Amino acid sequence: MGKLNIGIIGLGAVGERLIKQFIAHPETEIVAICDVSVNRMNEIRETYVEATSYEDHRDLIHDDRVELVYVAVPPKFHHGIALDVMAAGKNILCEKPLANTYEEAKDMAEKAAEAGVMTAMNFPLPYTPPVQLFEEKLNSGIIGKLRRIDFKMHFTTWPRAWQQNPWIAKREQGGYIREVMPHYLQFIQQIFGKVTNVNSFIDYPDNEEDCEIGIIARLELEDGTPILVNGLSNIAKQEDVALRAYGEKGVLSLLNWGTLTFSSLDQEEEVLSHRDREAKMLLVDELVKAAKGEPAHLIDFQEGYEVQAVLEKLLGKN
Ligand SMILES: NC(=O)c1ccc[n+]([C@@H]2O[C@H](COP(=O)([O-])OP(=O)(O)OC[C@H]3O[C@@H](n4cnc5c(N)ncnc54)[C@H](O)[C@@H]3O)[C@@H](O)[C@H]2O)c1
Repeated sequence: MGKLNIGIIGLGAVGERLIKQFIAHPETEIVAICDVSVNRMNEIRETYVEATSYEDHRDLIHDDRVELVYVAVPPKFHHGIALDVMAAGKNILCEKPLANTYEEAKDMAEKAAEAGVMTAMNFPLPYTPPVQLFEEKLNSGIIGKLRRIDFKMHFTTWPRAWQQNPWIAKREQGGYIREVMPHYLQFIQQIFGKVTNVNSFIDYPDNEEDCEIGIIARLELEDGTPILVNGLSNIAKQEDVALRAYGEKGVLSLLNWGTLTFSSLDQEEEVLSHRDREAKMLLVDELVKAAKGEPAHLIDFQEGYEVQAVLEKLLGKN
């Protein structure tokens, strides 16, 4: 088999990150790109890759060379574009969150099952060494019986400096509940099991178009273990994103996406180094394996839908 031919729809801040990963990978080639902004397509072509450019996503999907379509447009366009990709019988990698409503996500998972194509989502956390080490340590019993999960997402300002775009601060598609929470819901459901009994209280500003400025929520694992969510933005504090698993023997924490710590009664909080550790798997490797029909670790649309179902409950919409 030659290289896996990639078509990319949506060339924003996040699309650009994956462009670099596809270029760096010896077994993938970006053959087509699409964005409604012609300027952005020109910029990407000049900076990264000489690929065929399309202004309409349907033309990219029907380019016979394209084997895997990566969808990195804003959330409310995921559903329509993903349906077109799957109807064309093409494999798809979609950005998180899967969709912009519960119904769209359910429809996407159902259509994926009918289409029989490979579906995957870009949830980067499970592919990182600290998260893989978190799972190993947890499974080794290091924290004893789990008593509570605590998830904090505090932002000095929202949106963050690196992600400025027209939708990220708006209630319709943006906000950190929709943007950040799905990563950690996926993480929690992968490592601890299904989340249920969602109760949330969201603090919205007066302008009905603007996204939340705070959230307090209580969720549960299926055995009743509580999960607390504490989100706050526009505060006099550095960004602080932390997931802590409190157990009877110790506490494991994932801090600011990439630092793993452990503490117990006998041990002050200590960073567990993963510096010498290579990621056990990388998303692009796994996509290549799946395209060859080999077993691969991918987060499919069904799992994306299960994340969305909890997300929409948190937002009071499902
Ligand atoms: N996986 C992650 O870690 C991660 C992190 C942040 C955001 N995201 C997700 O990635 C997606 C993209 O986010 P972003 O910050 O890059 O957004 P962005 O607004 O910067 O980029 C989106 C791009 O899509 C283009 N676009 C919009 N509609 C289109 C259409 N119909 N056809 C073709 N192009 C179209 C826009 O012109 C823009 O260039 C979102 O779903 C977001 O939630 C993922």
